[in-house]
Amino acid sequence: MTDATAAPPTPAAAGPDERRYSPGLEGVLAGETALGRVDGQQGRLLYRGYRIGDLVERGSYGAVANLLWTDAWDASHRLPTAAVPDPVVAILRALPASAKPMDALRTAVSAWGATQTLDWPPTVEQARALTSFSPSALAAFARLREGKDPIEPDPSLDLAEGFLFQLNGERPDHGTARALDAYFIVGAEHGFNASTFTARVITSTRSDIASAVAGAIGTMKGPLHGGAPSEVVDQLAKVRSVDRAEAWIRGALDRGERLMGFGHRVYRAYDPRAAALRTVAESMEHKPDWLELAIQVEDVALRLLAERHPERAIKTNVEYYAAPVLQGVGLTPDLFPATFSLARHAGWTAHVLEQAAMNRLIRPDVRYVGPSERDVPG
Ligand code: ACO
Repeated sequence: MTDATAAPPTPAAAGPDERRYSPGLEGVLAGETALGRVDGQQGRLLYRGYRIGDLVERGSYGAVANLLWTDAWDASHRLPTAAVPDPVVAILRALPASAKPMDALRTAVSAWGATQTLDWPPTVEQARALTSFSPSALAAFARLREGKDPIEPDPSLDLAEGFLFQLNGERPDHGTARALDAYFIVGAEHGFNASTFTARVITSTRSDIASAVAGAIGTMKGPLHGGAPSEVVDQLAKVRSVDRAEAWIRGALDRGERLMGFGHRVYRAYDPRAAALRTVAESMEHKPDWLELAIQVEDVALRLLAERHPERAIKTNVEYYAAPVLQGVGLTPDLFPATFSLARHAGWTAHVLEQAAMNRLIRPDVRYVGPSERDVPG
């Protein structure tokens, strides 16, 4: 770690502020972390030094969450879902059935925080409790909006399997549980993305872990962050068949549209999470019937994107193969963003712990560009 106490550059007492400003904080080093390394040039993603592909192959979400929280690797570590406190169920019951699952999840996390004693500093136990609460809360809302009662957690099931059980009322088969577990692992952590940064800012004020995660969910809800695997499904429905792919994609690019599931702010190489999820999707027993079409359309899309943007590598991103995995495990597209949030709980809460351990209030400067000093009229 570098010396975080070194005095920051200060503007001259008077006169214009010449310090460099980077819109969106793009390229600005805003912290240090030992949790995840995103190597956009090489297309590599490491959690505490371990390659994402290896973690998917040999780990489970419980083991990966524990790794992020404690830096200890124990492949047998399990993380069952936890019960939803009665006041939180009452609040979820009061929401309109039309509420977005992301709004319901954010509300549930906030309400959960109000039922807990969340002293400073945040602890691994708090991180574990919140990460295992949220899948039960989302499953409860998904059932309540259909007029069904929530299902109590089965402590013998690991997190992804338990979530599907509480959603559907029956245990998923092994392959289905394993596929969602793999999705949870690849979604667990991704550096200083907007929602993680939000969680760290909130934590830096010594606020509690539930406030940090509620804020992070609110940030992830935005379409520029939460991603769009459901739009990948819509896009493939419009393409319909591989022989129409080239004409359809050329038309979309001519109209200035973005191809969903391609491009990334950081990755210039193939997103390693997409590679891991493609393998998972192909090995699923209940894969969607459009998976083969997705694989063929991907080749056409990559070729045409390279043709259009020879200056910029636009490759497949995680959302492209998240779509068949999430649909294959039986989730409806409106649950995709909130399910992504469930997966990111491990990373958010690990960043909360890391921020608290080396805390300094995050409070950057802003350049004033308004009117110069003047008198109030009259
Ligand atoms: N399809 C077509 N053109 C694209 C795409 C795409 N998917 N992605 C980038 N481009 C083009 C842009 O049109 C732009 O071209 P121009 O300079 O001629 O206008 C150029 O590439 C650069 O685009 P930026 O938006 O500056 O690139 P950035 O890397 O910041 O964008 C983003 C990243 C927002 C993800 C973008 O690639 C995109 O919109 N992709 C489609 C949506 C998507 O898949 N989102 C999920 C992202 S992964 C995640 O959030 C977890």
